[in-house]
Amino acid sequence: MSESAWLLHFPEDAARAQALAGACGWPARAVERHRFPDGEIRLRLPLDEGQAPAPRLAVLRSLDQPNDKLVELMLLADTARALGARHLTLVAPYLAYMRQDMAFRPGEAVSQRIVGRFLAQRFDAVITVDPHLHRVATLEEAVPVPQTVVLSGAPFLADLIARRRPGALLVGPDEESGQWVAQAAARQGLASAVCRKTRLGDREVVIDLPGVSVQGRAVVLLDDMASTGHTVAQAAHALRAAGAASVDVAVTHALFGPDTDRLLHAAGVDEIWSTDCVPHPSNAVSMAVPLAEALSGLSTPPSAQD
Ligand code: R5P
Repeated sequence: MSESAWLLHFPEDAARAQALAGACGWPARAVERHRFPDGEIRLRLPLDEGQAPAPRLAVLRSLDQPNDKLVELMLLADTARALGARHLTLVAPYLAYMRQDMAFRPGEAVSQRIVGRFLAQRFDAVITVDPHLHRVATLEEAVPVPQTVVLSGAPFLADLIARRRPGALLVGPDEESGQWVAQAAARQGLASAVCRKTRLGDREVVIDLPGVSVQGRAVVLLDDMASTGHTVAQAAHALRAAGAASVDVAVTHALFGPDTDRLLHAAGVDEIWSTDCVPHPSNAVSMAVPLAEALSGLSTPPSAQD
């Protein structure tokens, strides 16, 4: 195992960090964290007296529930730099704040740009999975670091769907899901279609089904993420009403709230599958190997090499 590079992780991510470390050959090291009663955080890199960190560090941190985690990343990255780390990679299987890419009303914070700059000031490289980029074409525009790697969960979910529901019709619940649905359908030779969504509020959407017959078909709803679950729940409800024999849900990021599973099953969803980008009982696809390949494939400047 190379000691010129370490994979840092927080205690709650130990299992996923071990899987990633095992796949890329970097030793995993846990960061020590104490949360004070007033909410402040004390953080400590895993160093012995007089020891410097490896010149090349990666931090595994999925940014679901992101606000505290961003402060932790700031404390961690700035400490690592101060102690001599020369190349810092953020491995964020889920990257937060990518959806607000413009001010819809005067005075609104464009959080994608602000959080993107915050990360770019601290990291040399960012690896992520299916960032929700809408009006911005590339991750570099949102997070202006020297190196970015964008992976997708769609091909891995497609392989799972082909095993669990051979011949299923893939349906995207809204226009934005079209890219992932097309990718997954092409990989497994599945038929696909995309719904139209009108969003009326955080928990209120209207879904118009595509003009294909779903009567008697096994349908899998595929999207990059589900949060409250109302988007896929409305789509599932409409598909069941239109005669679908079964409706399952596959998402890269299961950002589920406490009621999301119940809502989906009440709408007629049979099974829910997700990647492990965000920890959730529905995790059925591990992204450890593709993340490890991306990490191993990054180029590093000579100053960060042995
Ligand atoms: C937006 O376009 C995303 O792809 C999801 O459809 C959306 O974030 C899902 O949100 P919710 O589950 O709260 O309806």
